[in-house]
Amino acid sequence: MTETSLNDRADKQQAAHGGTLKMTARDVDVFYGTKQAIKNVSIDVTQENVTAFIGPSGCGKSTFLRTLNRMNDTVASARVTGDITLDGKDIYGADMDVVQLRARVGMVFQKPNPFPKSIYENVAYGPRIHGLASAKPDMDAIVEKSLRRAGLWEEVKDRLTDSGTALSGGQQQRLCIARAIAVDPEVILMDEPCSALDPIATAKIEELIHELRGRYAIVIVTHNMQQAARVSQKTAFFHLGTLVEYGDTSDIFTNPRQTRTKDYITGRYG
Ligand SMILES: Nc1ncnc2c1ncn2[C@@H]1O[C@H](COP(=O)(O)OP(=O)(O)OP(=O)(O)O)[C@@H](O)[C@H]1O
Ligand SMILES: [Mg+2]
Repeated sequence: MTETSLNDRADKQQAAHGGTLKMTARDVDVFYGTKQAIKNVSIDVTQENVTAFIGPSGCGKSTFLRTLNRMNDTVASARVTGDITLDGKDIYGADMDVVQLRARVGMVFQKPNPFPKSIYENVAYGPRIHGLASAKPDMDAIVEKSLRRAGLWEEVKDRLTDSGTALSGGQQQRLCIARAIAVDPEVILMDEPCSALDPIATAKIEELIHELRGRYAIVIVTHNMQQAARVSQKTAFFHLGTLVEYGDTSDIFTNPRQTRTKDYITGRYG
């Protein structure tokens, strides 16, 4: 099946399921120098659903995820072509403020990366640079709300001045989620957010993703098939830089249409 017909099908499935379009990607290519890492990928990200990106190592999941908030701009050799929109607006357009874009489309990385500052300051940093709080009580409220939404408040409310780096790995990752939430994003991109965490910390993040679903459009890259099945409603399977199959998570895992998808989810490669 051609990429075009796959994309057409993705569009139809989208329409059939009535998700609210938040982001769209059309015919996206990404190159590192002359090497092409993403080939002609088209996909929709909807408001109501958690979208999982799966596929073998090196297939381009992180590369594609980073096109959604222009993190690839920071890689000198990277070049992105095609169209990507947020609420219908071209995010690569000349009038797009990239700092603003990255607040609207936040990112959580594989390795928890809190700033070497207090827990409070980790969360307050973004709202401060974006001018979201004019006075201390306003900032306190944003910090508390963000930590509560990230499921961390009860564990840290009495130690807000402690360093963020003194927390456990799982707590640090929830702090990073609180930091992303603090600037009131619309989309949260997570690149293997649990891969450095133990099963209990992983379960907490998965639970959190359930709670955040709907309020934010969420895209998660994961190598863990069970995790993709547990947390997402839509799944995109990437292989060698192409989007092989996209659909409802339940269909992808129980009734994949493409042989390559089936081989991957049954563990034949990857
Ligand atoms: N900064 C870079 N410069 C050059 N090539 C890169 C860069 N980042 C990634 N690549 C290449 O692009 C391809 C896709 O890499 P990417 O990191 O997106 O894959 P991935 O699916 O996220 O893999 P993994 O599951 O291991 O994280 C790979 O061939 C990789 O070597
Ligand atoms: Mg990756």
